[in-house]
Amino acid sequence: MSTVLAIETSCDETAVAIVRDSGQRSLDRRQILSNVVSSQIQIHQAYGGVVPEVASRHHVEMINWAIQQALQQAGIGWEAIDGVAATCAPGLVGALLVGLTAAKTLAMLHQKPLLGIHHLEGHIYASYLSEPQLEPPFLCLLVSGGHTSLIHVKDCGVYEPLGQTRDDAAGEAFDKVARLLKLDYPGGPVIDRLAQQGNPDAFVLPEGKVSLPQGGFHPYDSSFSGLKTAMLRLVQSLPADELPVADLAASFQAAVAKALTKRTIACALDYGLSTIAVGGGVAANSGLRSHLEQAATAQGLRVLFPPLKFCTDNAAMIACAAADHLNRGHRSPFTVGVQSRLPLTAVMQLYQPAVASSPISENSSATLIASGNLS
Ligand code: KG4
Ligand code: ZN
Repeated sequence: MSTVLAIETSCDETAVAIVRDSGQRSLDRRQILSNVVSSQIQIHQAYGGVVPEVASRHHVEMINWAIQQALQQAGIGWEAIDGVAATCAPGLVGALLVGLTAAKTLAMLHQKPLLGIHHLEGHIYASYLSEPQLEPPFLCLLVSGGHTSLIHVKDCGVYEPLGQTRDDAAGEAFDKVARLLKLDYPGGPVIDRLAQQGNPDAFVLPEGKVSLPQGGFHPYDSSFSGLKTAMLRLVQSLPADELPVADLAASFQAAVAKALTKRTIACALDYGLSTIAVGGGVAANSGLRSHLEQAATAQGLRVLFPPLKFCTDNAAMIACAAADHLNRGHRSPFTVGVQSRLPLTAVMQLYQPAVASSPISENSSATLIASGNLS
């Protein structure tokens, strides 16, 4: 059994959560003791997107408050915490640094093991929070502002990426098309709302196929740049003062939903994976939900959409991943750093073998300082 306090600051949410994992297969295996999220969306809205320096500064301002809130909500003290975790990759380096430095400081101060967590592994673990019976293997469709991936989840720390975007992430495409239509940031929820009043068949848009050198198309990879350009040309060809925004939004959303659904179903069938777990902010999209649910049901596949609070960035998913790692004896060295990019296949590089995990020594702070930028 492990109780972990985790910090997530990879982008524009300052989040801290405490999760307890019994490590036993049961419906009440994982308990969320607290889940605090302070969103910066309103701050970045003025710029039409996330400004990395502004994000880091706000993380610094909010982090202590969020940690205190998480402990208070959970109603426990440091004696009940078994480990401290933070997202360390991938993400905005300055933003990640705030969370990881706070986690290192707390782990050192309270003599607890430290765990650096891969952000995408956190998104995968979000599905375990809402589906206690979920066990690997399954297919995860991860669709967020920064990522679009199809991942074969084999075990804790064992992931095989099967498909990805060759250019923009799905959420990024929503945000860019929203900007083109002069809608607010983040664009996904706005387009989703407008699409419900529009006709998804109003405009014919490209699917965004990825060609293979030997001919044919990649069955699981996606591309959204062609779709984005098609939207730009379409908008330029229409009268600016009478833009059919709802129809444009509905047609765009349907094109994204169909492309993702086609690849996800093909991948699940080819790999014999009967469960599909969807994660990331775009999992909230009503078009994607209905297309994927329909197609999965028709093929006898199970599709899981966690509640929105676990789809968008949060620290409960990071704590959930960390508690599983901790139960398995995984520990990160205090020299673990932040990285803007890190493939999911490299997750286990964040941990040292359990036997080599040194207790936090007096030299730890020296190591921390000697590691300089902690990256
Ligand atoms: O997972 P997330 O909170 O942050 C990242 O890790 O990127 O995802 C944010 C992304 C944004 O691009 C946002 O526009 C998109 O998720 N999003 C949506 C919806 N809600 C959020 N996209 C489409 N439909 C939605 N309802
Ligand atoms: Zn995310």
